[in-house]
Amino acid sequence: MTTATNPKVSFHDYQPELESFRAAVLLGLAREHKQIPPKFFYDERGSQLFEDILEQAEYYIPTVEKRLYQEHAADMAQLIGRDAVLIEPGSGSCEKVQLLLETIRPAAYVPMDISGDFLRKASCDLGAAFPWLHVYAACLDFTHELRLPAAVPEGRRVVFIPGSSLGNFDLPEAQHFLFQIRQLVGKGGGLLIGVDRKKDKAVLERAYNDAAGVTADFNLNLLVRINQELEGNFDLEAFRHEAFYNEQLGRIEMHLISRKAQTVSIDGEVFRFAEGESIHTENSYKYHPQEFGTLAQAAGFQSRQMWTDAGQLFGIYYLDGI
Ligand code: TRP
Repeated sequence: MTTATNPKVSFHDYQPELESFRAAVLLGLAREHKQIPPKFFYDERGSQLFEDILEQAEYYIPTVEKRLYQEHAADMAQLIGRDAVLIEPGSGSCEKVQLLLETIRPAAYVPMDISGDFLRKASCDLGAAFPWLHVYAACLDFTHELRLPAAVPEGRRVVFIPGSSLGNFDLPEAQHFLFQIRQLVGKGGGLLIGVDRKKDKAVLERAYNDAAGVTADFNLNLLVRINQELEGNFDLEAFRHEAFYNEQLGRIEMHLISRKAQTVSIDGEVFRFAEGESIHTENSYKYHPQEFGTLAQAAGFQSRQMWTDAGQLFGIYYLDGI
């Protein structure tokens, strides 16, 4: 299906299962340690709040990462090669790829995102900004499937994952996801991926507790969604955002903490919260370069190059499928 305005931009809707939001919430809140999977953050408001997080001064990743793409675009493009099929799972606003497109000149760009309206708009904007670019947007849940629209041309496949999205997977999930990427790109394909590094606890904790409270709003938006879409009655004032670095597990943990003992009903089911009880909503794992190298190697990738900043905050890796 092509868009009316630009024949080079097409949109493919694989209808990421909406029903499962209900199942995931009801199951997740029935567990001993309550949890909700992070992919449900990204309704339209959530996607917008996430874009706002990226603007917060404390959240260092976008600035550092952007500079790395700007400084090393030519090296990255050389490793990727011309006329590649560039695939971005979780593309969001497609902002980072724009720093590389003119240098890489891919034959096709395949943004994938769970948030359909957001993806549609980002793809159209991208098509307008880069009139030569062929865009095949795929609305899907990339934690569930990595599928390419049939219309995508042949060519060397390279997956692009900026923003340390891999960090939001647990270790076995990260392993599985890298393996799926390796299957998708094949031997001789590539992976360009940004991964956040282990660092000072205070720097990390500030990044996920911005002073303006945007990350808090993003986290709490999950409860707004439950209220709106699943007939929940969460009192938003009765929960607070919490994010801390779990040094032992090498990850930032995000939680929603109940400020008091209370009950909440969702779709007719009642859930009890003790004062201080948490809903665990997300992790963000941090990797030493060597740790990431080992993980990627187990999935069938060989690291060719890593770029990092002077402060050693963030790493961008290029890996070959072997
Ligand atoms: N993957 C990035 C990170 O872990 C971005 C991100 C995902 C994020 N969810 C978030 C940032 C929630 C802040 C809050 O840093």
